[in-house]
Amino acid sequence: MAEEKKIPTHLAIILDGNGRWAKRRNLPRLMGHRAGLRKLEQMVRLVKREGIRYFSVYAFSTENWNRPAMEVTGLMSLFRYYIRRKVEEIKAEGGRVRFCGRKDRIPEDLLRQMKWAEDYTADENKIDFIICLNYGGRAEIIDAVNSLIADKPEAPVTEQDLRNHFYLPDVPDPDLIIRTSGELRLSNFWLWESAYSEYYFTDIHWPDFDEHELRKALDDYAGRERRYGGLKG
Ligand code: FPP
Repeated sequence: MAEEKKIPTHLAIILDGNGRWAKRRNLPRLMGHRAGLRKLEQMVRLVKREGIRYFSVYAFSTENWNRPAMEVTGLMSLFRYYIRRKVEEIKAEGGRVRFCGRKDRIPEDLLRQMKWAEDYTADENKIDFIICLNYGGRAEIIDAVNSLIADKPEAPVTEQDLRNHFYLPDVPDPDLIIRTSGELRLSNFWLWESAYSEYYFTDIHWPDFDEHELRKALDDYAGRERRYGGLKG
């Protein structure tokens, strides 16, 4: 009997290269983000079909506020559009939408929409689609430490104590992190949670990432041996 193929429980993607994709076509950057969003819609379906239980994406980092105001406003509008028009489809597929990140600086109306999307899909359990928005790994650790201190824990604090104060404590660590568009870094994504993640980098810009590319990444992952600091099994 063929050995069962190893698939990640939690797949995380750093959606990079929308700007370069647009530039190459002489289009405004926002068109690249729109193309990126369309690609993401397809990808949620494909990822679910692979049997992956948690799918997280780095949509907007705590550092992305430093981008030109027009781009930031445009991205916020894209998030609003996505929630208004696409959450229904995710729910119909058994998808639970969750947001991960700081709530400050996010416009009030968008925050209300985010809360609605989470409540509306809360009972779905085929796939958790986690949108990291205003997320930074360092911010998450700092926020967890502050909330832990506010709980007045007894010393010594354990790893589990800290984890319990992360934004989504029930979500398992990412098994595989994909980054598109050629950059070989984590950029403050899942900083703590990625301690034993496998990485997959591709030069493809996010809007060009497709089913074939996903397959390549998952096949590559299936061939990796994870030892978590132990010895070869
Ligand atoms: C990185 O490309 C991409 C972003 C900062 C935004 C990603 C957002 C989307 C694809 C929309 C997602 C929407 C939802 C609802 C999750 P870049 O601008 O850094 O590209 P560059 O490095 O080529 O300039």
